Amino acid sequence: MRALNHERLVEEFQARFPRSGPIQIVEAPGRVNLLGEHTDYNAGFVFPMAIDAGIQLAGALNGTAQVNLYSLDYAAQESFLLKEIVPSKENSWANYVKGVFREFQKLGREPQGVDLVITGSVPQGAGLSSSAALEVGTALLLTALHNWQLETRDLVKLAQRAENDFVGVACGIMDQFASLMGRESHALFLDCRSLEYAAVPLPLAERGYAVAVLNSGVRRGLASSQYNIRRRQCEEAVQLLQEKLPGITSLRDVGPEHLAVVNQLPEPLKRRARHVVTENARVLQGVAALQAGDLEEFGRLVSASHASLRDDFEVSCRELDILVELALEVPGVLGSRMTGAGFGGCTIALVPRSSLPTFEEQIRIEYQRRTGLPAEIFTFRPAPGARLIAAARPRS
Ligand code: GLA
Repeated sequence: MRALNHERLVEEFQARFPRSGPIQIVEAPGRVNLLGEHTDYNAGFVFPMAIDAGIQLAGALNGTAQVNLYSLDYAAQESFLLKEIVPSKENSWANYVKGVFREFQKLGREPQGVDLVITGSVPQGAGLSSSAALEVGTALLLTALHNWQLETRDLVKLAQRAENDFVGVACGIMDQFASLMGRESHALFLDCRSLEYAAVPLPLAERGYAVAVLNSGVRRGLASSQYNIRRRQCEEAVQLLQEKLPGITSLRDVGPEHLAVVNQLPEPLKRRARHVVTENARVLQGVAALQAGDLEEFGRLVSASHASLRDDFEVSCRELDILVELALEVPGVLGSRMTGAGFGGCTIALVPRSSLPTFEEQIRIEYQRRTGLPAEIFTFRPAPGARLIAAARPRS
């Protein structure tokens, strides 16, 4: 999938919504998470990077009380009145946008009628956060169109609430955060409790490595029900652990030094909690390894994260395990793991650039042979977060 150039996007907008007024354009990236999976809703640490693919939006105020959305990728239109924002059954993509309008209204802002054209350059439903990008992109576009002043962190939280409360997915904060705050050539080390973060340089390209992203082609069917079950299990684990570790309020407060206590929990809570505790530690170690220039150690932690997600948290699936296994068979690959919620979607692998052709060929052939599915392989660069492109004025 390729992004459109801005002129094309404006032309597409004009074709649907002819006008002469200024049009705002926003680009919001997807993300891959390098380390720290299923830790965000446990108030823990994550380490994602925004990628150079995502969602593009072109929009303008239309002077009415109605919002008109057009998705170029689905060739579908959805319109709604601002006084009556309810979820759409047939155009589920529109709900991410509607949710953002609704959240602004709940804050007491009064969004006006808008015409909006949307397109994406990131595969949807593959765990690369196209939905978070759409939420973040919409939020940024609306602030620009209305000249609202909002703190970036408040925008991140608003986008997350749109997903939690309107779309009905109980996600954490990582994806929206990465899409808004991404930095070129950096990953983001985020403390999901305080929302303090640091952009950490990723010296992969200089050292001859690429982040390959492998789409298993398995749609994350089980994802939302199993995701909610995992969240509940983590909360139950906290309740039980509080008997022995008074004062803890989330698994974030449980360190590797408490693993003996964790191991006394009943199954499966013991393994769920163990994953979160060790995963938080891996993020801290991984960031330290990168800062020390130790890419091999970073890669080892990435692969250890996969083992923990597969065996302890049980959110992997056969196809993701096969992709990881195949990646690690290619000489020089530093590490590999599933990324995102799991149950399908994508894996990442840290691959020497010089091995990329072999890597791609070998994995395509073997993955197809073992699963009957085609593997889609991308290489993404760490990219800047969502941004407003200078307002465009259509040619008359
Ligand atoms: C999804 C959610 C995130 C996070 C990951 C798992 O991507 O949207 O908030 O919980 O799963 O790490």
